[in-house]
Amino acid sequence: MQASIGATDRVWIRTSGLFLLPYLSCHVPRAHQWMQSPELQELTCSEPLTLEEEYENQQGWWTEEKKMLILCPHDQNRRPISTEEDAIIDSLTSACGDVSLVMLSDDDAEKGNPKLLRSAELDVMITDPLQRRQGHAQQGLAAIMKYAYEHLGVRRFVAKILDHNQASLALFRRLGFEEFNRVEVFHEVHMHYCAEEPSRLHSPGSDYVLAPLHRLAPPSD
Ligand SMILES: CC(C)(COP(=O)(O)OP(=O)(O)OC[C@H]1O[C@@H](n2cnc3c(N)ncnc32)[C@H](O)[C@@H]1OP(=O)(O)O)[C@@H](O)C(=O)NCCC(=O)NCCS
Repeated sequence: MQASIGATDRVWIRTSGLFLLPYLSCHVPRAHQWMQSPELQELTCSEPLTLEEEYENQQGWWTEEKKMLILCPHDQNRRPISTEEDAIIDSLTSACGDVSLVMLSDDDAEKGNPKLLRSAELDVMITDPLQRRQGHAQQGLAAIMKYAYEHLGVRRFVAKILDHNQASLALFRRLGFEEFNRVEVFHEVHMHYCAEEPSRLHSPGSDYVLAPLHRLAPPSD
């Protein structure tokens, strides 16, 4: 069933290795600091924003069209997380990156999508190189894809990746994505994954479990 997710229906998702929390205003200083990195600016095709602009940017990230979730690895050494409040407090120090999903219009989606499946573009980053290669990106993507499949009716996922970004190309291939287009002028490879059958929506090698979705209190942030 396709649910309509409004601004007050933000969710957090628990997987076996991660918490995924909506991008809240309390995360802005950390996210702003992340995006000072020239590597992340280049690989995510992002322009640096002022802190004020980042607060404005955050406000637009839980709408019908786009959603961003902050990735926070579980750490057995920290106190157990059982409430949304615990998760938010924990995320202020444990956040290691984010995953985002932007719905595509039919025009954007048409190329390589003859059936015009409902499509969304994905992006992901793990900010600290020391936290990479631990499966966080794969698990975060798998969780948001499953959420988008079940709750937003998305049936096709698109990733636009710089052609020299070997890590990201390997990551999306690992998730079953295939190249459908190249834009040489932007050095971009466009990959997609069509999930017409629920059974195809899986993540090889990942042990994710999507926990029940919890509502956060209507945001006052
Ligand atoms: C690309 C990126 C998100 C990968 O995150 P990650 O958490 O390290 O990836 P995972 O640990 O989930 O990797 C899953 C699989 O992807 C592939 N992969 C990931 N990084 C890779 C690398 N550097 N080289 C080769 N394969 C890689 C592997 O198959 C890996 O499985 P394995 O570790 O069992 O071999 C991370 O390197 C990053 O944030 N880079 C900078 C920002 C960026 O490029 N974002 C993507 C924009 S499109």
